[in-house]
Amino acid sequence: RAGALWGGRFAGGPSPELARLSKSTQFDWPLAPYDIRGSRAHARALAAAGYLTGDELTAMVAGLDELADAVAAGRFQPAETDEDVHSSLERGLIDIVGVELGGKLRAGRSRNDQVATLVRMLLRDKAVTISAHVIDLIDALASQAEANEHAIMPGRTHLQHAQPVLLAHHLFAHCWPLVRDLERFTDWNKRADFSPYGSGALAGNTLGLDARLVATDLGFGAVVENSIDGTASRDLVAEFAFITAQIGIDLSRLAEEIILWNTREFGFVTLDDGYSTGSSIMPQKKNPDIAELARGKSGRLIGNLTGLLTTLKGLPLAYNRDLQEDKEPVFDSIETLEVLLPAFSGMIATLTFHTDRMAELAPAGFSLATDVAEWLVKRHVSFRDAHEITGSLVKFAEQHDLDLHEVDDASLLTISAHLTPEVREVLSIQGSVDRRDGQAGTAPVRVAEQRAVLVARVRAL
Ligand code: ARG
Repeated sequence: RAGALWGGRFAGGPSPELARLSKSTQFDWPLAPYDIRGSRAHARALAAAGYLTGDELTAMVAGLDELADAVAAGRFQPAETDEDVHSSLERGLIDIVGVELGGKLRAGRSRNDQVATLVRMLLRDKAVTISAHVIDLIDALASQAEANEHAIMPGRTHLQHAQPVLLAHHLFAHCWPLVRDLERFTDWNKRADFSPYGSGALAGNTLGLDARLVATDLGFGAVVENSIDGTASRDLVAEFAFITAQIGIDLSRLAEEIILWNTREFGFVTLDDGYSTGSSIMPQKKNPDIAELARGKSGRLIGNLTGLLTTLKGLPLAYNRDLQEDKEPVFDSIETLEVLLPAFSGMIATLTFHTDRMAELAPAGFSLATDVAEWLVKRHVSFRDAHEITGSLVKFAEQHDLDLHEVDDASLLTISAHLTPEVREVLSIQGSVDRRDGQAGTAPVRVAEQRAVLVARVRAL
């Protein structure tokens, strides 16, 4: 049977139902270029061990090159009868170099060690491309921070006005989780730097093939230490899926804020026309669909991770066919981020921030109350008393429908003898932000330093 890698001990081919269930070429085809690279390396290892002559190796590598071109050009496609990418490509190679030579390539390897290696190779490449997209998003956020470097906004806890902060500080707060995601990829890559090729089906091979040769050829620093682990583990795939899910969550939290900021009630941002959508019935609408899709797709990314973890849970060693289910979720997560991240970065880069509106709301909700309390502490009032006094001031202002700075001197002194008119020096949002100058604080000097550290951390990756 064309495209079958097994069958000697079977009376007939698989039932159509089994073939349909078993088939994976519709989703494992992205592994094709990696499979061919693996085959080239394996052919060299076979030749080094004396199983292919020099001429055979040359013919084999030429055949693999031709097959790679045909795959890249779309001229070679999986056939209906091919079970998976590996069987399909063996059929393709045999078509080119003949069954005599083509039939030698499979010696000493199994699809089990192949697929474990190829998925790692693909994920390592994708870690690089996704990281580049994440860096673009960090750049977009950092550029907005720079373009609006003096803007002050109401900082929130519990979604309530809390304390004024620099918009730049808030935007950088969204950068740091993304920087850690980049660092996660770098760290993951250290663990993914081991090649399972040579593990065979589970126990290794008897042919004396040099697995280190293959590993080096495929860009791995080393070979796995245990062939069972090499073929049966998928924790690295799950960890990769976690990183993509975490990126999704980081985008989703920012997306939620964009959606809020874009409401009429907030009025903090306007979305660029190219990065927002209209309504089919309401002509006035301009919707934050990119942010909403980011929030929605984070659910899908989390689902891919939990689906994969559930597949792995309870699997006995070594290889089980369940493991074929590792590819669709993680490939989907990759594709999701490859489409989402550029759109999201474009939306951020083209946002218009209404900094006047932010500044107007920054002192609202008595957001300078902590400043008053800390001013009292500097005058040696205990924080417990300071909290109490400031609380009374807030209550007074609320009852009289005033902002804190609108309470007159006489009333201040009735609330507490400590509340002398000098307290007004802390009742400005600029002063409040400027004074939060401890490490990691929102003071402009600290935020400028923070920006430099952020840039350095991304460069150091
Ligand atoms: N396509 C399979 C996978 O992705 C590899 C084939 C291993 N099949 C087997 N019967 N051992 O996991």
